[in-house]
Amino acid sequence: MASLPHLPGATATPPTTNPSHSTRTIFAKPSHFITHAKRNNRLRISCTAQNQNDNASQNVETSKGKVDRRNMLLGIGGLYGATNLVSTHEASANPIQPPVLDKCGVATNLNTGELLDINCCPPTSDKIIDYKLPPVFRMKTRPSAHRVSPEYIFKYNMAIDRMKRLPKDDPRSFMQQANIHCAYCNGAYDQAGQGTLDLQVHNSWLFFPFHRWYLYFYERILGKLIGDPTFALPFWNWDNPKGMTIPPMYVDPKAAIYDSKRNQDHLPPAVIDLGMTGNTDPLQVVSNNLTIMYSEMIRANSSALDFMGQPYKEGTPVNPGPGSSERGSHTAVHVWVGDPREKSGENLGNFYSAGRDPLFYCHHGNVDRMWTLWQYFLPSSKVPDKKITDPDFLNAAFLFYDENAQLVRVTVKDALDNLKMGYDYERIDLPWLDYRPPPQTAVAKIKRTGTNVPKTETIFPLIVDKIVRVRVPKTKKGKADELLVLENITVDTTKFLKVDVFVNDEDDNVTELDKAAYAGTYAQVPHKTSNTSATTSIRLKLTDLYDDMDVADDDEIVVTLVPRHQGEGLTIGGIKIIENPPPPTPATPPSS
Ligand code: C2O
Repeated sequence: MASLPHLPGATATPPTTNPSHSTRTIFAKPSHFITHAKRNNRLRISCTAQNQNDNASQNVETSKGKVDRRNMLLGIGGLYGATNLVSTHEASANPIQPPVLDKCGVATNLNTGELLDINCCPPTSDKIIDYKLPPVFRMKTRPSAHRVSPEYIFKYNMAIDRMKRLPKDDPRSFMQQANIHCAYCNGAYDQAGQGTLDLQVHNSWLFFPFHRWYLYFYERILGKLIGDPTFALPFWNWDNPKGMTIPPMYVDPKAAIYDSKRNQDHLPPAVIDLGMTGNTDPLQVVSNNLTIMYSEMIRANSSALDFMGQPYKEGTPVNPGPGSSERGSHTAVHVWVGDPREKSGENLGNFYSAGRDPLFYCHHGNVDRMWTLWQYFLPSSKVPDKKITDPDFLNAAFLFYDENAQLVRVTVKDALDNLKMGYDYERIDLPWLDYRPPPQTAVAKIKRTGTNVPKTETIFPLIVDKIVRVRVPKTKKGKADELLVLENITVDTTKFLKVDVFVNDEDDNVTELDKAAYAGTYAQVPHKTSNTSATTSIRLKLTDLYDDMDVADDDEIVVTLVPRHQGEGLTIGGIKIIENPPPPTPATPPSS
């Protein structure tokens, strides 16, 4: 088992002033570095047939984002690209291409699908540069927002204030930056060359890399505005009990980072409810939160895609399936902060407006931190499969304006390693890391209750507008290595939806998630897509759950679906249990 960083008991370690790659060397698995070492070698070998030189293609101006497809397919690099280059190469379809900015349309939104009264589209530019990550001279450390100094708060507010004072048409100005989220998330862009298919950066494997790039440039712009290239955004440490309130610096009405459109019942000291169960006991809520973190980071996932989100390529309709972190804690924080007095939960509670609240970037700092923790800190005994080698993932591209207001094209493969991007996170202990629910001691009484519980074939498709129980056959008796699949989930994208899933749960206490029976969650932040409905699916790993409950010789389980919000907006096409497929075997490394 890879050893984890020493995690202090109740307090965070002090911020590292100048962490470097060697800092992570201590924590990361050696394979991470071996992979890097092999990559260059690999590229030289495999790319002879075509123009492979990734560096040479950097900083080359392309015409209106139309990039030579051969270049895109070849720029395989980064952590995830190394091992499977040959085997995935032929399998390639086409990666998602950056939007064509001058085809940006009016974003529609709101619960009725009416037009927004704002134009989310950025300024256009004829000159697009392929972005090259600059060399890292000094690592930035993103601090925990609950632990920052008065000097930091002052500087941060000054930067945001200057951003707000930039001319409205400056792509670096506050509203232009906020509108990036609106344009990429509310149907303003179509997929280039794909008719009217929306471009959408949520509910798929693009979720983490898109938002990483978004914060990356936002942070650089702020740093430039205050003449401090080491300025680092804060992160909202909502996965730690000490960070489970809105960070106090955001609720000072005089601050530039203040936003009045937030749920007034959720200001500090209200404890964030990542489960949105409505339980009012703060201690139970904290315990639920830690259980959710453990579940979405470790227990419920059997593959990289379960965490990252499902494949989304050129021609894929939106919403192929969000990863566990996106649909769980990420969604909950948006909706919990959004203002119920506003028509669509503005600001944080709806994608089109989320970027208008400075707290958004702090929230996404922690979302991004979760990706980093999952990549580099979770031992492979707990998370065996962390690699996505598909070139359609690695070569998916976005456009952003950089800190010099230059339009740049960036790719997923350049966003895989936060240290290469020049930033790290303050080390804070991870109290959820071993927050496994206690075993369920009572034997599940399926035989007793089962008589009233319908079988799976009799009730689907099903609108989840009330608590539903269903019997689902296992692939084998007893403790098998299995996944629960909720398939053909049709969602109304304009609504906040959340459904929790329990297995063999008989106590009906559905606001307590810290028990073995809690299997996972489906949830989404409201947003607009072309036809306001989308079909998706999720998979929840049952293997660890079985270890904590007595499934004896059972050949079926009872699944309970608990709608938390607007369950009538969500239809499930079916539920089944499948065997957990083995993780993909990496291609044999070159014998050098
Ligand atoms: Cu793009 Cu948290 O959303």
